[in-house]
Amino acid sequence: MSKTLHRIFIIILILIGTATFFYFGMYGYNYYTTSNEERFFNGLHKLLKPSGLIGHGLGIIGSLMMIIGVSAYMIRKRIRKFVRIGFLKHWLEMHIFLCSVGPILVLYHTAFKFGGIVAVSFWSMVAVVLSGVIGRFIYIQIPRTIQGQEYSLDELKSLDKDYSDRLKTEFGLDDSLIVKLEYFNKIQIHKRTNFISIGWLIFKDYFINKKLLRKYKKELISKKIESNKVKAIIKLCNSKLVLLRRISLLHSVHIIFKYWHIIHLPFAIVMLIIMLVHVTVAITFGYTWIF
Ligand code: HEM
Ligand code: HEM
Repeated sequence: MSKTLHRIFIIILILIGTATFFYFGMYGYNYYTTSNEERFFNGLHKLLKPSGLIGHGLGIIGSLMMIIGVSAYMIRKRIRKFVRIGFLKHWLEMHIFLCSVGPILVLYHTAFKFGGIVAVSFWSMVAVVLSGVIGRFIYIQIPRTIQGQEYSLDELKSLDKDYSDRLKTEFGLDDSLIVKLEYFNKIQIHKRTNFISIGWLIFKDYFINKKLLRKYKKELISKKIESNKVKAIIKLCNSKLVLLRRISLLHSVHIIFKYWHIIHLPFAIVMLIIMLVHVTVAITFGYTWIF
């Protein structure tokens, strides 16, 4: 899949998620904003209550989406036999899509009533989704191949050397500029393993890099280099700066990501176990939806 096609695909997934959220929100607005005591008299009650045709259906479809999203990703990641099926990166994107839209459907299934033991499942689901967003941010700090496999430190260093070589041979840049880029990153010591301080460092680095690149751009333009070439050089310098930052953060990010799994996984397990109990109770009480 080309980069542009992949980007379009991701935008479509985001649009589907956003449209789902707004569609059911608008459709049921009148019902969801009615107090619990008065809901029974609302015209939409029969359809949108958790055991109603739509409400119940949303619970089933949303739960299935989460079950498929989690199991497919874990099977692809952990079972050797499936290692060759698609890129891991794309499977993670499917995981994120199914496990974001699934919870939206479950939210409407609850009709915003969070009672009983199943509320623990609901809040665990919320915790997994929120931790997922943070995890995705940490995940992208670890440089990976197109297939989604992590690079080793040696591979990263040789990738960085490739960038320097390209800047020298393809664009004829002198060593002084490259040394400046490297010096700039080396003076920052990233040894902290605290998520907030690392997040803050990345945030700060982003703006410092932008400022530095703007300065280089001016320097290159003043040397009468063509604008297309300047663009390409700046893009490469940016890739080099981001890579240098990721190399210097690698050790800390690995530790944080390990801790992050300790949060994401148990909440997912709690959610799934209570969901199974909830479904068993529902079926026992004769709530079989359209079946
Ligand atoms: C993680 C997934 C799920 C969560 C968090 C969840 C949560 C909830 C909540 C909060 C309620 C409302 C409880 C109340 O009225 O106070 C509810 C009701 C209900 N849920 Fe789920 N649910 C999930 C999945 C499912 C699934 C897959 C089914 C279908 C088998 C289902 C069937 C029902 C039924 C039938 C009711 C209505 C029970 C009644 O009115 O007594 N739920 N659910
Ligand atoms: C109810 C929703 C979700 C559930 C039940 C869930 C569950 C899981 C599970 C069981 C894993 C595998 C953990 C492991 O390999 O040890 C995982 C990995 C992951 N999930 Fe989720 N997740 C959910 C939503 C999300 C969301 C919304 C995002 C991002 C926005 C996300 C991002 C990730 C990431 C980045 C990984 C790590 C991948 C890796 O280390 O290979 N998850 N999730």
